[in-house]
Amino acid sequence: MRGRGGAGFPTGVKWSFIPPSEPLTYVVVNADESETGTFKDREIMEGNPHQLLEGALICARAIRASAVYIYLRGEFWDIAAALDERIAQLYDEDLAGEDILGSGWGCDVFTHLGAGAYICGEESALLESLEGKLGMPRVRPPFPAQKGGGLYYEPTVVNNVETLANVPWIMEHGAAAYRAIGTEQSTGTKVFCVSGNVQRPGNYELALGTPLRELLYDCAGGPPEGRQFKAVLPSGGSGPIVPTTEEILDTPLSYEGCVAAGTILGSASVIAMDDSVDMTWVASKVTKFFRHESCGKCTPCREGTYWLDRVLDRILAGEGRAQDIRLIDSVAKNMQGATLCALGDFAANPIIHTIAHFPADFQAHFENAVEVASAAEAAGD
Ligand SMILES: Cc1cc2nc3c(=O)[nH]c(=O)nc-3n(C[C@H](O)[C@H](O)[C@H](O)COP(=O)(O)O)c2cc1C
Ligand code: SF4
Repeated sequence: MRGRGGAGFPTGVKWSFIPPSEPLTYVVVNADESETGTFKDREIMEGNPHQLLEGALICARAIRASAVYIYLRGEFWDIAAALDERIAQLYDEDLAGEDILGSGWGCDVFTHLGAGAYICGEESALLESLEGKLGMPRVRPPFPAQKGGGLYYEPTVVNNVETLANVPWIMEHGAAAYRAIGTEQSTGTKVFCVSGNVQRPGNYELALGTPLRELLYDCAGGPPEGRQFKAVLPSGGSGPIVPTTEEILDTPLSYEGCVAAGTILGSASVIAMDDSVDMTWVASKVTKFFRHESCGKCTPCREGTYWLDRVLDRILAGEGRAQDIRLIDSVAKNMQGATLCALGDFAANPIIHTIAHFPADFQAHFENAVEVASAAEAAGD
């Protein structure tokens, strides 16, 4: 199984990185769920909290962790309260706490609420926040699984809610049964969060590798009446946007399938847009999000998101300058790979890929600018 938090890192490999001889290790559940368009972890925790708690405790048992911390985004206070009740049941039934079921191994389980920052979903910023510090990414190495890189400097597994919720099923039915679902490199099912211009938005659990067409049409009911799909963001605002050509609609929704199609699966927050949507507006909207959420630690992300937002505002106001498309493309490309965490790359994506796929949408704003200027001149203004 590959992690469902976004990067698709193999979960078993991650657990195996924990040094076996370390006396103190932790499991941290990433329930920050702050990616644009993602709303699956919430439904898992609301619908079947035991599945998550069981998966987290299996992970804890595997690495002999002494505590599980469930880090939830601040807005999930009601889910945290419900989880606390379930956790109390675990203690009552001897499934958490000291000497679980007489095994000689003990593990505490806690919930912790964040304060509503997107960056606290990034695992090292999450660990900082959990320790009571400012939620800013750490310099790596050391990585969370290593001594010095995890929670309170101890080796730590950080896994997404959906990842851990898959674990009980795999333990019960076996790896072979799980591998029979999905593709060779992307095993199992995935919850796809579909939103935007579709008739039936919602969470759909499908085998990895299911074609995008099936998700958008059969599950989500296609575009609104009288509209055509124009573009899709398969992994929310963070990943590359793709036009919904016939070829793209045939894309198998797997980690490798999305990469081959020029995008990423990420956490599978599929935002669909129809032909009424201006892609310049989309680029601006997503950029505003990243500008707001940049933690400000590194210059290319802090300054880049600020300037991209300002120039996009100018273009949308019809006051774009001839060189503006080249300018924002170059600012975004200079941010890529130059930052401490992936948010810098995420913020560059909406610019680079909307310009590449939808140049006419940008150009339209420049044509308007000329018209406005000519009208003003004609009026002698
Ligand atoms: C800016 C940023 C935000 C992220 N937000 C989340 C999030 O909300 N939830 C999540 O599970 N992972 C998020 N991640 C990914 C985590 O850093 C980490 O890879 C994940 O929790 C690992 O879990 P997994 O192996 O089960 O996928 C984010 C990463 C970045 C760079
Ligand atoms: S890339 Fe952005 S969010 Fe990430 S550490 Fe740098 S400034 Fe902070």
